[in-house]
Amino acid sequence: MSNTDPGRSPESKKHEFAFIGRSNVGKSSLINMLVQRKHLAKTSSTPGKTQTINHYYINNTWYLVDLPGYGYAKASKSNHESWGSMIETYLKKRGNLTTTFILLDPRLEPQSIDLDFIRWMANQNLPFSLVFTKSDKMKKSELLSSIKKWEDTLHKTWEVLPPMFVTSADKHEGREQLLGYIQKLLK
Ligand code: GTP
Ligand code: MG
Repeated sequence: MSNTDPGRSPESKKHEFAFIGRSNVGKSSLINMLVQRKHLAKTSSTPGKTQTINHYYINNTWYLVDLPGYGYAKASKSNHESWGSMIETYLKKRGNLTTTFILLDPRLEPQSIDLDFIRWMANQNLPFSLVFTKSDKMKKSELLSSIKKWEDTLHKTWEVLPPMFVTSADKHEGREQLLGYIQKLLK
């Protein structure tokens, strides 16, 4: 189901796991990789592809939710505002949202837009994990030092850090870890 009104999401009796992060970070691609369906969630090399809240019902038991990205430079101001209220309402009101995966691009230094969003989630007491995407685009050593930078930055504010995952939709990396974590939460 796709919609722009969080209130019209499917009935909320099942566990739900959402994917969020900057436009183009790879949310839709990651969902396709997890479910092993290349074209289930629509992807694009141009940021701003996903514009709606998309519920995918998995094994008749739980939902994966693809969300529109933030920080899309070309979006108009009113677009930014409607993104904010749509996503804020969804995240705050969705009682069956078990956890949210916040996707980060490890090729970039820690960005304030991501840090602000992480802070907002923490202030709302909403559970989340961090997922470093597109790992295939980096050397292992660069990836590790980027993750270390993120950890150091987060440790300036928080003593305990959320679970972290490394994924590549292209190389199918991190699939078992993410699905294993979801299974653990489902239990
Ligand atoms: P919006 O819907 O615009 O917010 O973007 P999104 O976060 O859903 O990103 P999407 O999955 O559409 O991917 C954006 C671009 O990154 C596409 O060109 C993908 O092919 C590419 N991409 C996504 N994941 C990976 C990855 O793990 N490795 C590589 N090399 N490219 C990736
Ligand atoms: Mg998308």
